[in-house]
Amino acid sequence: FKQKKDFFIFLRFIFGVKQYICIRKNMFCFSTGGVLAVNMTIPNTLIRGTVGGEALLSVRYTSFSVDLPVIKWQLKREKDVTVVQSIGTDIIGTLRPDYRDRILVFENGTLLLHNLRLSDDGTYDVEISITDDTFTGEGSITLTVDESISRPYINMESSSVLELSENVVLNCSHDNGTRTTYRWFKGGKPLTNVTRFVLSTDQKFLTITRVLMADDDVYTCMVENPVGNMTSLPIRLTVYRRSSLYIILSTGGIFLLITLVTVCACWTPSKKPKHPPRKPLSRFHHSPISHTGIVLLN
Ligand SMILES: *[C@@H]1O[C@H](CO)[C@@H](O)[C@H](O)[C@H]1NC(C)=O
Ligand SMILES: *[C@@H]1O[C@H](CO)[C@@H](O)[C@H](O)[C@H]1NC(C)=O
Ligand SMILES: *[C@@H]1O[C@H](CO)[C@@H](O)[C@H](O)[C@H]1NC(C)=O
Ligand SMILES: *[C@@H]1O[C@H](CO)[C@@H](O)[C@H](O)[C@H]1NC(C)=O
Repeated sequence: FKQKKDFFIFLRFIFGVKQYICIRKNMFCFSTGGVLAVNMTIPNTLIRGTVGGEALLSVRYTSFSVDLPVIKWQLKREKDVTVVQSIGTDIIGTLRPDYRDRILVFENGTLLLHNLRLSDDGTYDVEISITDDTFTGEGSITLTVDESISRPYINMESSSVLELSENVVLNCSHDNGTRTTYRWFKGGKPLTNVTRFVLSTDQKFLTITRVLMADDDVYTCMVENPVGNMTSLPIRLTVYRRSSLYIILSTGGIFLLITLVTVCACWTPSKKPKHPPRKPLSRFHHSPISHTGIVLLN
């Protein structure tokens, strides 16, 4: 072996492992355990961040060398973006404008990103190399960046419906928040996609088909994303019994009819054509309420 690097490549070939215990001074190595390599530890390979917040891409390494490491962080893209390169904690060169004042590298190789943007979302590769060490420490951390959710609200065409009539559609809306998922609750209990309660594929819309009296309840929706969740204010759906509606309508109709009859009875027909006594009568004809009244009287 001309160089020690060749020797280690040979070892790597033989053992198929990256790390060996070495006593560097006399170039004697064991094939288990320790290093003539940077041993990197990543406690958490998935970090979740919020827009405007910060993310600590935490790593640490061990090496037999006391030399300062060269630390390189790259963001995986079609063409990888070098986020930062440093010797120890000293950043080499100038940072890209989009990272200026947003980056800090710690002694242990950890990267701190401030004032997170949605574009920071991605997988970060880190490499820590030390001249004396043959093998570079490598690892990667995935960072998700999400916008926090603002309170959702439920939209409903009508908050009171007649049982067994048409469908009711509830729509869960919110202003802010990325990568959101939706959940629905009826009277505090989670709703699933069952026969009469149909959830849209994204679960944003809840359709209740052929509303029953049992659907008279409070509904809430919950919006979740990797950085939190928010629940809407409860909204009440009032369901009227068909029969009770007829009673209401017919009572109203009778009342109206009595009123009109009284009015008509007291009415002295006027000769003024501009002010026809028919007016209340024609309104009465168009009103569905009065119509029920008539039907009932018939
Ligand atoms: C690397 O470090 C971790 C903890 O820091 C240790 O458990 C592991 O044995 C080390 N690996 C090698 C090959 O030295
Ligand atoms: C590396 O150092 C930073 C700053 O001191 C610390 O917050 C972080 O937890 C360390 N990482 C590990 C993996 O020890
Ligand atoms: C939504 O986000 C924008 C900008 O990100 C912010 O100005 C606005 O206040 C947020 N709205 C709510 C309801 O949080
Ligand atoms: C609920 O069921 C309907 C029809 O069976 C289907 O189209 C829809 O994708 C389902 N929604 C969910 C969230 O599974």
